[in-house]
Amino acid sequence: MTHPIVAGRAPIAVALEAGNTYYFCTCGRSHRQPLCDSSHRDSDFSPKAFAVEDSKTYYLCMCKRSSNLPFCDGTHARLDDEA
Ligand code: FES
Repeated sequence: MTHPIVAGRAPIAVALEAGNTYYFCTCGRSHRQPLCDSSHRDSDFSPKAFAVEDSKTYYLCMCKRSSNLPFCDGTHARLDDEA
């Protein structure tokens, strides 16, 4: 499996609402980051469905390498220039 594209090297703040299902882009190709726009077609990636318990602002991963997707875990700060 290839690595996802780095869509950004900092998390993105997104206001999410409890009760909704969101589809996080795991491939990095979406033009609606951080959410899926189906640009993953013809790749090995698929979106990650998730929901939140509280309606508030969350910091979602844009480097697509967090160990806690869709949420940022600080991995972007450790990416080398080749990622
Ligand atoms: S566009 Fe990236 S997972 Fe769908």
